[in-house]
Amino acid sequence: MKMMLRTLVSFMTFMSLIMGFEIPKRDYENKNYFIVELNTTQTNTPLTQFINDNKHYKFEHQVRGLENHFVFSIPKDHEHNEFLGNYNSNNRNFIKRHENFIEEYDNLLNNRDLKSIHMLTPKKLEKRAPVLIKDEFNAVDSSQLPLKDAIDKLGINDPIFQEQWHLVNTVNPGNDVNVTGLWYEGITGKGIVTSVVDDGLDYESEDLKQNFNAKGSWDFNDNTALPKPRLFNDYHGTRCAGEIAAVKNDVCGVGVAYDSQVSGVRILSGTITAEDEAAALIFGLDVNDIYSCSWGPTDDGKTVSEPELIVKKAMIKGIQEGRDNKGAIYVFASGNGGRSEDSCNFDGYTNSIYSITVGAIDFKGFHPTYAEACSAVMVVTYSSGSGEHIHTTDIHGKCAGQHGGTSAAAPLAAGIFSLVLQSNPELTWRDLQYVAALSSVPVNEEDGHYQVTALNRKYSHKYGYGKIDAYQIAKFAKDWKNVKPQTWYYSDVIKVNENIEIQGADSPDKGKVLSSSIIVNSRDLDVMNLERIEHVTVTVNIKSSFRGQVGVRLISPFGIVSDLATFRARDLSGRGFENWTFSSVAHWGERGIGEWKIEVFNDPRTNGNKIEFLDWQLRFFGESKEADKAEKFDIDVDYAKIRRDRLSDDNQPEPEITVSTETPAPTTEATENSTTTPATSTVQEEKPEETKKPEETKTPEDSSPTSDTDKENPDVDEGNNVEDGKNKVVKDHKGFYFMALVVVGFIIIMVIMKYHKTPGSSRRRRRDEYEFDIIPGEDYSDSEMDSHDSLDLGHRNDADYNLDEERNRLYDELNAEALPNYEEEEEMFKIGDEDDSKVDTNNQKEDSENPQDNKDKKKVNFAD
Ligand SMILES: *[C@@H]1O[C@H](CO)[C@@H](O)[C@H](O)[C@H]1NC(C)=O
Ligand SMILES: *[C@@H]1O[C@H](CO)[C@@H](O)[C@H](O)[C@H]1NC(C)=O
Ligand SMILES: *[C@@H]1O[C@H](CO)[C@@H](O)[C@H](O)[C@H]1NC(C)=O
Ligand SMILES: *[C@@H]1O[C@H](CO)[C@@H](O)[C@H](O)[C@H]1NC(C)=O
Repeated sequence: MKMMLRTLVSFMTFMSLIMGFEIPKRDYENKNYFIVELNTTQTNTPLTQFINDNKHYKFEHQVRGLENHFVFSIPKDHEHNEFLGNYNSNNRNFIKRHENFIEEYDNLLNNRDLKSIHMLTPKKLEKRAPVLIKDEFNAVDSSQLPLKDAIDKLGINDPIFQEQWHLVNTVNPGNDVNVTGLWYEGITGKGIVTSVVDDGLDYESEDLKQNFNAKGSWDFNDNTALPKPRLFNDYHGTRCAGEIAAVKNDVCGVGVAYDSQVSGVRILSGTITAEDEAAALIFGLDVNDIYSCSWGPTDDGKTVSEPELIVKKAMIKGIQEGRDNKGAIYVFASGNGGRSEDSCNFDGYTNSIYSITVGAIDFKGFHPTYAEACSAVMVVTYSSGSGEHIHTTDIHGKCAGQHGGTSAAAPLAAGIFSLVLQSNPELTWRDLQYVAALSSVPVNEEDGHYQVTALNRKYSHKYGYGKIDAYQIAKFAKDWKNVKPQTWYYSDVIKVNENIEIQGADSPDKGKVLSSSIIVNSRDLDVMNLERIEHVTVTVNIKSSFRGQVGVRLISPFGIVSDLATFRARDLSGRGFENWTFSSVAHWGERGIGEWKIEVFNDPRTNGNKIEFLDWQLRFFGESKEADKAEKFDIDVDYAKIRRDRLSDDNQPEPEITVSTETPAPTTEATENSTTTPATSTVQEEKPEETKKPEETKTPEDSSPTSDTDKENPDVDEGNNVEDGKNKVVKDHKGFYFMALVVVGFIIIMVIMKYHKTPGSSRRRRRDEYEFDIIPGEDYSDSEMDSHDSLDLGHRNDADYNLDEERNRLYDELNAEALPNYEEEEEMFKIGDEDDSKVDTNNQKEDSENPQDNKDKKKVNFAD
């Protein structure tokens, strides 16, 4: 009997593996779910073995689209819940060595085919809801020639086409995506499919059904094939889909790529887990070219949240295998938390290097106050603001006139990218990012704190590389020659361990800036085969009693400043940043050699905080030197170690002195082996603002960004092929003589250091093992105050009141559109302690008594 049962189980296992999509209904109330990663690359034996060895875990199904990942469940009252937790997952390992810890489980962990265990916590993702714009817009103006032109030439009969100002703006001419020229040439998105990952897609709508792609669609909320909007408010995805591919007919308006197709992947209408999220982002990878995502963590100005490891792995699979290995395109809305000082660098979806982050501009071309800025913003496009919204298709056969937020900008960009892919289907995911950066048009140049980057393009944290001009980007893409494959460089983890402690307005630490530098030399990049930077990420560990008061910025050898962490008055969390990864697209095109400096400082508006800057790690992702040496990226590999190994295999003499000549770095020292060189961290007594913008050191050679000469491959841009960074630094900073002095000084310092330093001293000491007060949670989602820190709300409020004036002044300086509402502050304290709920993933007994509670706590809000 037992034998038979076992055989049956195995049989069913394989059936469900083969069937793929038959996913049993979830029972979140009574069961915990988890993913087991097993090495089944060559044979399925490890899986059958695992199932047979662990009969108390019920095999559910394979994670859709991800090999080697299998979902199991366990009843919540089972004793294993007491220690069952994550293992090799999310860079964290917190299997509890509980007193009841069973040997059996120990054996399980010693199974060499078991790679990881990942607990799945139920959560509900939320849309980035449109932000209502108050003033009413009164009908269109009489000068409608471009509109008439389009209607006549293309035979457009769609009744609301003339309200679709984002396509042809007759009221504020020039403030549209400039697409009609492409339509006239037959570039309408034919052959390209965009998956709208949202709350469903009304595939029966007369305006969508002809362009609906069922094969690329799935409903993860109701576990069925077709993504029908079922809830009363499931209109978000349909409106987004309409912007992309509403059919040119006599219903509502047209999509920007009205001959392209849309799939619907429904995940926002109910409880899901990271497994569903992962599967959603690679669903129909053989069909879908673009994934349009108008959601993200809560935009409340106090959340820091990133995708769980499994979701990151799915996106990596997407960019590696999607579109016949050219990579799926992930488009994310930057977020709607602008009015709460929120920044998209606290959102791990938007700041992923695999996503193109899209911000918004409005009807008049202005920056809408809701749109979030950050150094991960690549481009902007149109959405609600200045009295107008986006007009598109709706559910129930209606048309929508109130769509907006960055939610509406992302699908519009996705639609334009379908036009680009039709124009040049060979672009890889990275080439599309190059094309977007190089062809976009800077807007509101007086407002965006633009810096001229190594691409000789203007970059703004608010507007990215500017607004997408559909015609320009598609034309530019047509002649684009793909760059070489991607490669990467990881620095060592640089220990800093410096503090800022501010107690009161007279604190000596006021204005203190903790800075730490790292010298990257050409050998570091050579052994990693890196020629040119595209994305830069910085992973930090910073403790702070008020996270929202911590500022972090990165300054490159080229002189570009990325504001990584900006101040958020509402974020009172005491958790600091635990292995948090910031990213920047502002360093695109830089060579990378020289001194990279990070600065950590406190919000000058506040008078009470303790900041402890523990460590950081710098990573570059960019174009390889030699295409045939390109490797496949593996998120689990420590590429810093690989670099060190390669350097030590390499018998070249140590180029310490070379380092110094390459970089004006008076405060740095080289390590013994002069690989990646952590410089001494220095403390400067200066206001952050003063060091802020080195803009004046560079003058744009050609400030007309849309001129033809400007739009060539960045390879021919000046300063891009500088071999060793030396010329560039000299040229850009014009301070040759000063530099020479600095270099000489540096050499002297180094010589002194060399004799002064005992071998194996501080820099080489073992990494301090530190523990944060709170065990970090799985998805790093925290919008709550943590009770572990003794917080004095009264005190903080007082500080804020006293500082109101100062804050207003600073807001003006910082161009902030709106002050956060401090009356809402109290609300924060009502939010459950998420840290606890996370720890409870190990021990869900309490949770099972009140699953609804837990669910609420785990909510990740998808805004825009
Ligand atoms: C997976 O198992 C196979 C043998 O079945 C082995 O060759 C391979 O190296 C293993 N892969 C990993 C990542 O452990
Ligand atoms: C940060 O990541 C490292 C490497 O994965 C890990 O050893 C460390 O425990 C993590 N720290 C925290 C606070 O999660
Ligand atoms: C807009 O499209 C037209 C072609 O329709 C093109 O000539 C023009 O350069 C584009 N961009 C701008 C900014 O006008
Ligand atoms: C530095 O190089 C020496 C040999 O030159 C080697 O023994 C040592 O392990 C290296 N140290 C590091 C940190 O790579």
